[in-house]
Amino acid sequence: MNAYRLSIKGEIPLHGETYVSGGKNTSLAVLPAVILCDEPCVIENLPDIDDINVLYTILCHLGAKVDYQRDKKRMIIDPTSVNCTTVPFSFTQQMRASYYLMGALFGRYGEASVGYPGGCAIGSRPIDQHIKGFCLLGAEFLEEGGMLKLKGERRGSIINFDMATVGGTINVMLAACKAKGNTVLANAAREPHVVDLANFLNSMGAKIRGAGTSTIRIRGVQKLSGAAYSVIPDQIETGTLMIAAAATRGDVLIRGCIPTHMEALTAKLLEMGVFVDSFDDCIRVRLNKGHRAIRISTQEYPGFPTDLQQPMSALLTKANGNSEVTENIFDNRFKHLDEMRRMGAKVHISGRTAYIEGVPELRGAPVNACDLRGGAALVIAGLMAKGITQVYNPDYIHRGYERLEEKLSSLGADIRLEKTE
Ligand code: EPZ
Repeated sequence: MNAYRLSIKGEIPLHGETYVSGGKNTSLAVLPAVILCDEPCVIENLPDIDDINVLYTILCHLGAKVDYQRDKKRMIIDPTSVNCTTVPFSFTQQMRASYYLMGALFGRYGEASVGYPGGCAIGSRPIDQHIKGFCLLGAEFLEEGGMLKLKGERRGSIINFDMATVGGTINVMLAACKAKGNTVLANAAREPHVVDLANFLNSMGAKIRGAGTSTIRIRGVQKLSGAAYSVIPDQIETGTLMIAAAATRGDVLIRGCIPTHMEALTAKLLEMGVFVDSFDDCIRVRLNKGHRAIRISTQEYPGFPTDLQQPMSALLTKANGNSEVTENIFDNRFKHLDEMRRMGAKVHISGRTAYIEGVPELRGAPVNACDLRGGAALVIAGLMAKGITQVYNPDYIHRGYERLEEKLSSLGADIRLEKTE
């Protein structure tokens, strides 16, 4: 339990303008990718979140020279001094994306020894597809004392994923960049941050084609040159802010986002009767009346993102009618709904589907964040509820959202971090 909690006074409509930070999940892929490079790189637009701090310490542990200019959201990384291919469990347990060090270290040095990854408890999160890809590229895989070990030559291959795994696609792309010969990733994930990583790698001289489609082709290269790269804005933070605007019946302009990444959510909000106006690099979300109940079914991109399922379910607790939310990607991503019941939400869960009966009012209550996006969902529920909501374990939220309290406060929310008793 953290020594802090978020305290939220609800029923205040959000008004005004805010901005989106750089993408968490894209940064967690791009930063390890620098290890593949033969020269220093500059990575810009990094979000100031705990997961980036963990990755910073891992890069330093490996021997890279890292100048992290937090205030400028920039890291200058010289990977040529990397002198270690082992990442201990003490680091990896803090963050799931630490497994990208497997692909980056194996892709550069032909060996890697990385502790089991941690991450949000949203179901069993195997990495069999990552291992399958590494082995097809020539790695021998060994699991020893909680360490995942890879060693071997890197040669091109054809990898057909059993599901469109984001992590698997990214990890095997990292490992294949400098492999001898050509690699094909079939049934690859199409998320925006897969495309962002491919763009970064290509800016260093990699030869990757087809990112954003389900078939990615990689021609191995020997050398990657230094590059300066700015990561894309965070798709999930954009969606979370859009939902918060609708949930409080506000009128918010979200700047610095990519509206085309938000189409699945925008379509659902329009279906609910929310006003959404998309411009080149900003989105305006307005609502001044009730919203309709809908059905949501999470899918790989470009379908409705699983990471927005939890924030959206908060909005649905006060919809006019009964909604259905089916979670197809992870097998345990409804824990936040137990907490919302304490606020008066009417929810019934059966298998992969949550049945949400819209209620006229939520009441503030003390609730526990259990994971990153579930914590964001509880913040949204607190913004909607009558009275005060206290969200415990806000560290989950700070892992993946940069200054969320500040952004919401700047829009008029009454939200602040306070010490617990
Ligand atoms: C990434 O997780 C994101 N994390 C998740 O965001 C996101 O929810 C997920 O992609 C889906 O979009 C990062 O980018 C750091 P997957 P990842 O591999 O890579 C199964 C957040 O809140 N699977 O696409 O773990 C897996 O169990 C986080 O920012 C296997 O069975 O997602 C899951 O059911 C939460 N074997 C499904 O596939 C494998 O080898 C999707 O997993 C790999 C995955």
